[in-house]
Amino acid sequence: MIPNGTEYLSADPSGIAQAADLLRQGLLVAFPTETVYGLGGDARNGEAVASIYAAKGRPSFNPLIAHVASAEAARRFVQWSGQAEKLADAFWPGPLSLVLPLRDGHGVSSLVTAGLDTLAVRVPAHPMARALLEAVDGPVAAPSANPSGRISPTTAEHVREGLDGRIAAILDDGPCGVGLESTIVGLAGEPALLRPGGVVLEDIEAVLGTELHHHKSGDLLTAPGQLQSHYAPDASVRLNAQSRQGDEVLLGFGPVECDENLSAEGNLIEAAANLFAALHKLDGSGRPIAVTPIPENGLGAAINDRLRRAAAPRDS
Ligand code: TXA
Ligand code: MG
Repeated sequence: MIPNGTEYLSADPSGIAQAADLLRQGLLVAFPTETVYGLGGDARNGEAVASIYAAKGRPSFNPLIAHVASAEAARRFVQWSGQAEKLADAFWPGPLSLVLPLRDGHGVSSLVTAGLDTLAVRVPAHPMARALLEAVDGPVAAPSANPSGRISPTTAEHVREGLDGRIAAILDDGPCGVGLESTIVGLAGEPALLRPGGVVLEDIEAVLGTELHHHKSGDLLTAPGQLQSHYAPDASVRLNAQSRQGDEVLLGFGPVECDENLSAEGNLIEAAANLFAALHKLDGSGRPIAVTPIPENGLGAAINDRLRRAAAPRDS
């Protein structure tokens, strides 16, 4: 698919300049953000966006997040509001995406929004992501850089395993700090939590001074892309396990005997950062995965959301 294979770029000014160049040519570049690695393409170039869907094998009804360098840049594409301003002031740059009505003359490909009249925008905090977005000076559509439905990548090696040969380049800057995707807040109508993630619900509600509408864990589809079975390892996943059954490998949290521990100290921030790498690693054992209980407070809500999706029945 890519004539010269996938290029590996280092996280320095020359790597960033090359990555920006490839994006301007309409090619795809995976890059680090503080949440997970993103698979970037020029959001204004329909062919580039179509090739994101193709590289991931992603269902076309699933809209993408537009990444920009600043809140000012975001305002070129969406209808800004007082609530957006409050959340941007408090959490940008950082692991929060805001869904807002599109603005006239936005220029974003309708493949990014999957035909919706809203756009998800995010200003990532990772220094490489920021440098890249500043160099490109335009919106970069970027889903997580994994084949659709599979575990999200928190290292360049995870990206290579899933997408090598299918994209132009990977910008490598080591593991991601947060380890879970951004929290998505819908602000096109009543403020709503569309996906739990790296910024906890309670902090968002404190800034807005109001409660967010949200579905209780494991409920309905919320954001259009929230397919039930998602983040799926090859192995089956069993939640709330007290111990191993049969052939299982055990993923633990807190002071438990297990094969891989998300955080022996029971720290949810550390657990979030380790989650996807631990799933990748245990999946490599070829055995079913059992997971000990994880509390639902703070980042636990987003961790459990991803684990429930990893455990959900598969389509085929
Ligand atoms: O942390 C993140 O958000 C990462 C990094 C790369 O920034 N990106 C990411 O993108 O997780 P992705 O494509 O894997 O997830 C995007 C989610 C999907 O669930 C999609 O349905 C939702 O955002 N979304 C995008 N645009 C939307 C819109 N206009 N309305 C509602 N949901 C939207
Ligand atoms: Mg994803």
